[in-house]
Amino acid sequence: MIVCVCNAKNCRTVREVLSQGPHIDTPAAAHRAMGTTPQCGRCLPTIADMISEVRNENAVATALAAAD
Ligand code: FES
Repeated sequence: MIVCVCNAKNCRTVREVLSQGPHIDTPAAAHRAMGTTPQCGRCLPTIADMISEVRNENAVATALAAAD
């Protein structure tokens, strides 16, 4: 699925960037990491949602690891 039409970035590319680490914590940081610049801004809420999903996945993984 295309996330950012203006920069032709799909969800796989965005998720790869978000997996680089917790320093990618805003849509603007994600754009910087992709080497792109937000233009129309319509993708920003979607990228923010994706950041939240990655944070939640990481929190679950950390909790499961701690439970072991
Ligand atoms: S859709 Fe990402 S800047 Fe326009």
